Amino acid sequence: MRVTCIGGGPAGLYLGILIKARFPSWPVRIAERNRPLDTFGWGVVFSDATLENLRAADEPTQREITQAFAHWDDIEIHFNGHTIRSGGHGFSGISRKRLLSILQHRATELGVELDFQTDITDIASERERCDLLVGADGANSRVRQSLADEFQPALERRGCRYVWLGTALPLDAFTFIFERTEHGWFTVHAYRFDEELSTFIVECREETWLAHGLDTADSQQTIAFCEALFEPYLHGHRLMTNSAHLSGRDWLNFTRVSNERWSTGNVVLLGDAAHTAHFSVGSGTKLAMEDAIGLADALAGAEPAGLEKALAQYESSRKLAVLKLQNAARNSTEWFENVARYATLPPEQFAYSLLTRSQRIGHENLRLRDTTYVDRIERWFGGRAVPPMFVPFRLRGLELQNRIVVSPMDMYSSVDGTPGDFHLVHLGTRALGGAGLVFTEMTCVTREGRISPGCAGMYLPEHVPAWKRIVDFIHASSRAKICLQLGHSGPKGSTKLLWEGMDEPLDEGNWPLVAPSAIPYAARNQAPSELTRAEMLEICDAFVRAAGMGLEAGFDMLELHCAHGYLLSSFITPLRNHRRDEYGGSLANRLRYPLEVFRAMRIVWPEERPLSVRISATDWVDGGINGEDAVEIARAFKGEGADLIDVSAGQTTPDAKPVYGRMFQTPYSDKIRNEVGIATMAVGNITDVDQVDAILAGARADLVALGRPHLADPFWTLHAAAELGYEEAPWPVQYLSGKEQLERLVARAKDAAS
Ligand SMILES: Cc1cc2nc3c(=O)[nH]c(=O)nc-3n(C[C@H](O)[C@H](O)[C@H](O)COP(=O)(O)OP(=O)(O)OC[C@H]3O[C@@H](n4cnc5c(N)ncnc54)[C@H](O)[C@@H]3O)c2cc1C
Ligand SMILES: Cc1cc2nc3c(=O)[nH]c(=O)nc-3n(C[C@H](O)[C@H](O)[C@H](O)COP(=O)(O)O)c2cc1C
Repeated sequence: MRVTCIGGGPAGLYLGILIKARFPSWPVRIAERNRPLDTFGWGVVFSDATLENLRAADEPTQREITQAFAHWDDIEIHFNGHTIRSGGHGFSGISRKRLLSILQHRATELGVELDFQTDITDIASERERCDLLVGADGANSRVRQSLADEFQPALERRGCRYVWLGTALPLDAFTFIFERTEHGWFTVHAYRFDEELSTFIVECREETWLAHGLDTADSQQTIAFCEALFEPYLHGHRLMTNSAHLSGRDWLNFTRVSNERWSTGNVVLLGDAAHTAHFSVGSGTKLAMEDAIGLADALAGAEPAGLEKALAQYESSRKLAVLKLQNAARNSTEWFENVARYATLPPEQFAYSLLTRSQRIGHENLRLRDTTYVDRIERWFGGRAVPPMFVPFRLRGLELQNRIVVSPMDMYSSVDGTPGDFHLVHLGTRALGGAGLVFTEMTCVTREGRISPGCAGMYLPEHVPAWKRIVDFIHASSRAKICLQLGHSGPKGSTKLLWEGMDEPLDEGNWPLVAPSAIPYAARNQAPSELTRAEMLEICDAFVRAAGMGLEAGFDMLELHCAHGYLLSSFITPLRNHRRDEYGGSLANRLRYPLEVFRAMRIVWPEERPLSVRISATDWVDGGINGEDAVEIARAFKGEGADLIDVSAGQTTPDAKPVYGRMFQTPYSDKIRNEVGIATMAVGNITDVDQVDAILAGARADLVALGRPHLADPFWTLHAAAELGYEEAPWPVQYLSGKEQLERLVARAKDAAS
């Protein structure tokens, strides 16, 4: 098979090496427009895990790379006059020039044809002349552009500017420096990559860059500016540039690249041409080289006839790993774009938030790296070394014993709104299981406001004693508190029980629906009628009445459900609200009714008891609610006296395209908490203690709600305590023998594992 590779960066060169090492008879040519060591940038980093992958793929290359490494363990953070250090991070740096030289040398040794100073412009002709054409031509790939219809690339240019500089400053840690100017924050990402040199990347927001006139600065002016700004850290060392080939365009924007498909016919994309990852997660070169491993593996034994299959196999073997890393990189990119948001945090929490920004490193993982650092942050967070989730939290007069919450979950098991024995056992068990706060399911304020015939309600007199039985049990038998979530289904009402068909209308006995506008939730749902002002007032009264009934039943806290496409959420999202009166149009108008309801409930709900609001922080659809809107929504509710925003997302339209993943909604909680200055609750695919504690200590939320994990394990919190060796979590006295046994078993398992 004749292989031509356009681009002689890490991806192209490493692929050439791997193919030649496995299939010496295949002619492999790499066309590179630059001269051999004509590269921009300074150093790149690899983690220990990446090195292991490289060793398995081609040991001689890995050996050479390892010998050229500078290794470090610590991360040092300079912020607001404080220096915070955390250890055990285990990274190695290498000069990009040295890396390319090692790869070029090994490629030549194996017989790869290296064609330098060859700028390929005619992709179609190149494609004709070989069996496999590899586009390893970097983030601005011409191969990708020329076949854009097939690859369907998505390019997202991010809002920060960065310049990649070098310095002889000898750094003994991966160093972050944050420096505030009159026009905004500058960040340095710096690390040593060989005996003499360190990479020194300077980054700031576009508006900061413009305000400092850096758009008209040449390389020398850029250097002078950065040297002056970071003078206290440079200890007399100079900064250097090697981006002469960029002809004065020293400051770049990071572009996030992804592609719907990575191959078409005999053409395949590799490395940055296929996907990019922000430099702050230091993984672009790793991904590029791991792509090369994936492609070489898939090509094993493939003849030209079986090529397309091999390319599809390469794509499927790599796409998930790349997506996971791109998601982590997105969190990290956004963190640095929003330094000002985090700069309001105390230095300890600022640093912790930085270390855990990508959501890849959790609390226990950090502890493995540096126990002393984690002990210090725990002492700071809780006043003593205790896992953050077990630090009490206060909302108005309500003291929660810990930060774990049983998320509201509809059980579809009520009879005309009345919760029964199932609810007593279900909610009661979860309260015994140790969570600090247990939510009821969405409890509907009218019969017509139910989602399904099985939904719980607070609209008949008998609902009060039915709920009171549950509340009383929880108060008498556990230290948990209980929050009543009140809602109205709006356009998503009159549907089947969850297990009979989600959002599907009933086979018979449907009741009429109401909504801000006459838009059915999905094509199969009935069209609601547009609410009149009189009907809106009636529903508002129903919310107030239900709040009063909740008080009678003894609930500790109330939540107003303004998420997931139900009635109040439908007012907020422009996708569902097309009203022409003062309740439609601008966000302020669309919020008017939900705020009226909230205000009316706040009046009847006692001053010392908290009232929270659940929102969908994004519709996951262009033109719908986004994170910026969510901040405004939270701010509006805060203005009315909301104590907590329960940050969910989506479920407002069947057209949503959610980006799922671990803790996928938490970035919205983080944004709202730290931009609005209100307590938040994070929820959504949060499953383990490591994640929970990192969310809390990292100031991404004040409470963490777990839904499905509590369906699988009502005793999630007590099990978490045992796992963490935290013995103070109060087990029900009746179960103390179970506690002792579990703690013994956990200790034994830990001993066996160590
Ligand atoms: C500021 C910054 C810091 C970074 N830090 C790190 C880090 O610490 N760790 C890390 O792993 N990664 C880092 N990266 C990312 C890393 O540089 C890239 O992800 C990596 O180089 C991708 O390798 P590649 O071979 O796909 O692309 P590239 O390295 O971009 O190589 C593409 C090659 O193709 C050539 N080419 C392009 N078009 C043509 C053409 N038409 N004809 C011929 N040749 C062509 C180019 O000249 C280039 O040599 C950083 C990136 C930046 C911008
Ligand atoms: C069976 C089930 C029922 C749910 N019912 C409600 C509800 O009544 N009110 C609500 O706000 N969210 C409801 N949710 C959403 C959860 O509260 C939570 O936000 C979601 O499950 C994501 O969290 P998780 O990944 O921890 O499960 C429900 C979720 C499930 C699985």
